[in-house]
Amino acid sequence: MNNTILITGGAGYIGSHTTLALIAAGYDVVIVDNFSNSERWIPARIAELAGRPVQCIELDLCNAAATERCINEIRPAGVIHFAALKAVGESVADPLRYYRNNVTGTLNLLQAMRQHGCNHLVFSSSATVYGYPEQCPIDESAALCAINPYGRTKLMMEQAITDISSADPDFNAALLRYFNPAGAHPSGRLGELPRGAPNNLVPFVAQVAAGIRDRVRVFGNDYRTGDGTGVRDYIHVMDLAQAHVQALAYLQRERQDLVVNLGTGQGYSVLQIIQAFARTIGHDIPYEITERRPGDADACYANPSLAQALLGWKASRDLDAICADAWRWQLHLGAA
Ligand code: NAD
Ligand code: WQD
Repeated sequence: MNNTILITGGAGYIGSHTTLALIAAGYDVVIVDNFSNSERWIPARIAELAGRPVQCIELDLCNAAATERCINEIRPAGVIHFAALKAVGESVADPLRYYRNNVTGTLNLLQAMRQHGCNHLVFSSSATVYGYPEQCPIDESAALCAINPYGRTKLMMEQAITDISSADPDFNAALLRYFNPAGAHPSGRLGELPRGAPNNLVPFVAQVAAGIRDRVRVFGNDYRTGDGTGVRDYIHVMDLAQAHVQALAYLQRERQDLVVNLGTGQGYSVLQIIQAFARTIGHDIPYEITERRPGDADACYANPSLAQALLGWKASRDLDAICADAWRWQLHLGAA
């Protein structure tokens, strides 16, 4: 049987770690990526860490004909679909680019999969589909409400995939709603590669710790949380990668759809993150309190029990591991 899994966006942050996890689990993998938000040397780095070659095809999923040819050639047993643009602010400024890339790219992929009888899809969704959550921890049954163009592309694609799956019992999909992915590979040789100033908190704190930026700007301290700063559910990228392996196995075994939160269930505030990182590096990290960032919720953390019940998956790495691995990766990238 063909054991090959196609990984769209496999050169990206979560895709690269998941590629390693799939190889470790015994799958053959093929990465496709257009390198719009990743570097061409990443597949070689993955191969080095995996100890074996990794096939990578340069492909833009917005090219329907090339996507169809690729699926026809590889005939994968399943697809893990990471490829998307992910910057919330950028999606507000340039929504058309986000709809074109995230919606058109996904529809092209789905079309090609349908055409060639590829029936297992793992989709990168996001806690952003819960909008401003009414309560925490958030269950999968919570109301869905996207609040920016990026979030709408994720919600729309969740709906499109669910409709396709309802129409064809042979087609099954796992919708994985990630909370806040952070950390890096423990080798310090693979991690997130932000272009310019990072949007996300952990890589920003890492750059301040490395002296690349002078201080962390804490976006508001008047939220309804313990210390007034935003609370989030930071999940180690290695735990997240492992969840994909288990979600894929679930589709292959159960032939049923799956919608699960991937988080730890534990929320940490911005100040707690800064403090944890300071403990890792052994000295204080400068910060200042600034205005709120538009669109930010007070708190957002998962109830991850469904993933445990259905997949037997639970995050095993804590905040100290996230900080230690993010720091090792930052040292590899370089300090000021
Ligand atoms: P990333 O930008 O590091 O990786 C995405 C990869 O997809 C990149 O290598 C990029 O070059 C590629 N890509 C983008 N558009 C493409 C296209 N049209 N054709 C081919 N390749 C394309 O992002 P990531 O953090 O690894 O996120 C992976 C997925 O998880 C995305 O779908 C993202 O929306 C989702 N997600 C990310 C987070 C997060 O905070 N990182 C949280 C929730 C969900
Ligand atoms: C975390 C907390 C900020 C930066 C985003 C997307 C979400 C998902 C994950 C893709 C918040 C605060 C941040 C800074 C700060 N991505 N912060 N100073 O906003 O929870 O989620 O990434 O699907 O859709 O919205 O993550 O890391 O940006 O922020 O004070 O420089 O840190 O206000 O409370 P967020 P984040």
